[in-house]
This record gives sequence, C-alpha cells and structure tokens, in this order.
Amino acid sequence: IQALSVTSECAPLVKTGGLADVAGALPAALQEHGVAMRTLLPGYPAVLGQIGTTEVVLTYDDLFGGHAQVLAVEASGLDLLLLDAPHLFQREGSIYLGPDGKDWHDNPQRFAALCQVAADIAARGASGWQPDLVHCHDWQAGWVPYYLKRDGVATPSILTIHNIAFQGLAPMGLAAELGLMGHDLHRDGVEYWGHVSALKAGLVYADHLTTVSPTYAEELMTPAFGMGLDGVLKMRRGALSGILNGIDLSTWSPEVDAHIRNFKSPRGKAANRKALRDEFDLPESDGPLCVVVSRLTEQKGLDLLLEALPALLSRGGQLALLGSGNPALEDAFKNYDHPNVAVKIGYDEPLSHRMIAGADAILVPSRFEPCGLTQLYGLRYGTLPVVALTGGLADTIIPDTHATRVRGVATGLQFYPITAQALSSALTRLCDIFADAKLLSKMQRNAMAHPVGWEQSASDYAALYAQLLGTD
Ligand code: ADP
Ligand code: GLC
Repeated sequence: IQALSVTSECAPLVKTGGLADVAGALPAALQEHGVAMRTLLPGYPAVLGQIGTTEVVLTYDDLFGGHAQVLAVEASGLDLLLLDAPHLFQREGSIYLGPDGKDWHDNPQRFAALCQVAADIAARGASGWQPDLVHCHDWQAGWVPYYLKRDGVATPSILTIHNIAFQGLAPMGLAAELGLMGHDLHRDGVEYWGHVSALKAGLVYADHLTTVSPTYAEELMTPAFGMGLDGVLKMRRGALSGILNGIDLSTWSPEVDAHIRNFKSPRGKAANRKALRDEFDLPESDGPLCVVVSRLTEQKGLDLLLEALPALLSRGGQLALLGSGNPALEDAFKNYDHPNVAVKIGYDEPLSHRMIAGADAILVPSRFEPCGLTQLYGLRYGTLPVVALTGGLADTIIPDTHATRVRGVATGLQFYPITAQALSSALTRLCDIFADAKLLSKMQRNAMAHPVGWEQSASDYAALYAQLLGTD
C-alpha cells in the first residue's frame, strides 16, 4: 500500500506538540505492515534548512498567489514531499502564529494550499508516484477529503483528529478563494455557524475518521467534548474509530535514551533522580519528586495543579516543571515561592528526557486529552503517571484501586472529577504509595512492562487502510 500522510508538523523536523511525534513515527511503524508512506509537509525555513539535496517533483506558477514547488527528499528516515511556497511559509518564528502571538492572518490559505497539493498528488501523481490513499492530520489537512470529492478523485481519505479544539475556521468571504463550491456552503457541508471550517470539511467528507484514543472517540460525540462538532461526529459514528498513539521506543526507552544515565529497572532511576534534583536546585527530600512537561494551556489543567500543590508539598513532595504557553500560567508557576517547587519556562527536548527519567511521578491533570504522550513516557521509565480520568489518559493507565491492588496490576493514579480537590487527594495517595516501598516498586515494574510502542496501533492503521482499499 502506498499512502500519503498530510501534516503541518513532523518530528524531528518541526514540532509544537504530539501531532509531530505521531506524524514522525507512523511511517516507520507502518513500514513493517507493508505500507510505504510519504509525508507531505510545508517547507518551513527550519525544515528546508535541515535537509540535503532535493528533487523537484511538481511546480505551480500560481498556488494561492505565488510560485510554488514540491520537493522530494529523504531525511530522518522519512520520505518527504515538501511544499516549498515562500509566499506562504517562508516566515521566521512560530509555524502557526505571527509575532503578535495571533494566528497568521492567512492561515486558511496557507493550509488550503497544502491540501490542494495533496489532492493534486492523489489525482495526478508527482513524478510518477501516486498514493492509494491519503491520511490527513487535524484541520490543517481538513480540506483534502473535500477537494478529492469536489474533483471526483476516488482515492480514499482518512482524517485523524488529534485535537478538536482547533477547527480551522475561516470567514465565509474566503469560500471562493479556498476553492469551495457554492452548493457545499451549508450546514451539511463545510459551513459552521456562518464560517467555513476545514476540520468540519474533513469530518464530513473523509471516508474514515480516527482519533487518538478509544475514550476520546466516545467523548467527541458528546457536547462536553465535541466543541460544537459532536453532532457531525455522531452522524458519522459508523466511520469513527479510536486508535491509541504509541511512542517512539528508539528515543524514549530508559535502556537506550541518549540523554540520561541508562537503566533497566526502577532502581536505576536513583542516579537520574539525583542529577535532576541538582539541575533544578531541589534539596533531598522524603517525598516523591514529581514532574510536568507540557504546553501551558487551559487544556492541560495546570491551574488545578497550582491549587492542589499544598497536598504534595505538605508531605515533602516536590515539583519540577518544564513548559511554556499562556503567560499568566507561566508567571504563576515562576512566582510559586517554595523550596520544593522549581520551574523552567521554555521548550527543551533533552531536558524533558532527563526529567522523565529522574522523577518518581509525572502529573497530567488535563481537562481533556485526546491521547497524551508524556504519561506513556512516564510508564516506560517507571515514573508513575498521575492523570485525570479522560481521553487517552483513561485508556493508558491502570489506576491504583482496591481491585487493581488485589491483582497487583496498577501502573499509576487517576482522579475524577477533574477538580483541584480530586487532584489534591490523588497527590496525597501518591505520597502514601511512595511511603510503601513494596507497593511502589510493584507499580513501577508494572508501569515499565506496559506496552506503549507502536506495534498494536500500527497494525490497526494498516488494517484500516486495507479495509478502505478493499484488500483486507
Ligand atoms: P499535546 O500534543 O497536546 O501538546 P502530547 O502529550 O500529545 O500533548 O504531546 C506533547 C509533546 O510535546 C510530548 O512529546 C512532550 O514531551 C513535548 N513537550 C511539551 N512541552 C514541552 C517542553 N516545554 N519541552 C520539551 N518537550 C515538550
Ligand atoms: C494533540 C493532543 C494530544 C495527542 C496529540 C497527538 O496535540 O492534545 O493528546 O497526544 O495530539 O495525537
């Protein structure tokens, strides 16, 4: 099977969050299942600066107002097609936001261009290569299924929802420029409360929809989580499935991780814990050393953690946090004045490895979490996840309860409802577990043994592809 993956970010070349990790890891994972995947990605300056010699496989005299070409190149084990369109992508700074911190004003056109190119490659090929199916990620690739249907191209498409909070809205006035047909500008088509929505277009026109955990797939069909699109998703229930993300075990395994003192069993964490305390200027302590590695946004529920911290600190627990985002949250953490709280604002991949290796627990109190990757890293490193009961967090952690203790299978702690009070009590339970060396070590070993790689999910995606192509 030849597949074209369409994404706005892809690790290790360009990343703002988990989408990049997933887009970057899927091709290699799928290869073992007979899927050859090429990845279409915008040619941001940071990406073009990292790659070697390219081959031009498509050219456009005028793609949304400027000259563009598609470059083929292999880099970081990925078979890439880069949309080099300087008028859309040659900008310094964030890939989504201008210097004012707001979305680039032409984001609708930038990513519609990416979608148009994907549809063209599906329809006519690029230098003789044509995909059997197109796998689209999030709103940035949302117009692809629509363009395919509009142009009568039979290539099947899949849209994966990584986060429904981002819907790719554009003013109705852009409809013509975005290539939308008048007769599709209604509620059953691409219209969304007077706007047009790239994500909704994907939800309506893709042949199959996936999201990144089974629980989030269910949640998406409810008003509390669907963010206005629950109705559309309910209508498409039969075509929606949840396939959990995996993590890339060649970079995220304590046995081989290049950023840490390697270990095979929880005992090996001690040297990393000491190094982590030193790095964050935290004193020795009897309580659990907890970490957070996260975007600082409403989604991640870290305001709840600010409120719940006393429950951890009163028992000698500690917090080391790495993150960036919302300025008010950044300030609140920076100004949290306590010897057992240490904060680094910024984005630092190697540091994130050292933190997850050295910590006793990783905290993920998200209000919603389509999948979440950091709790999976935590499992792999014997760093107990303390998570909200939602989305992928619900699907990946076996919570410490009476029943799971009897069976000796727990891998972490879950709390619900998603409030500061419930989080406080989870942190108190964490401190209790931490004081019980036998239970702690059992849970750490359970966590490390839990499967978090791509095997199962890659095979699920491959089966879905085969089903769509009628070759299963
Ligand atoms: P989301 O995609 O919603 O941000 P995920 O848990 O799926 O959440 O993925 C986040 C990814 O970004 C993880 O790989 C995580 O380690 C990484 N990450 C987030 N913030 C930082 C940071 N400040 N420094 C380094 N890595 C970070
Ligand atoms: C989104 C979600 C996160 C998920 C990631 C990759 O950014 O917020 O939960 O793990 O996409 O699918």
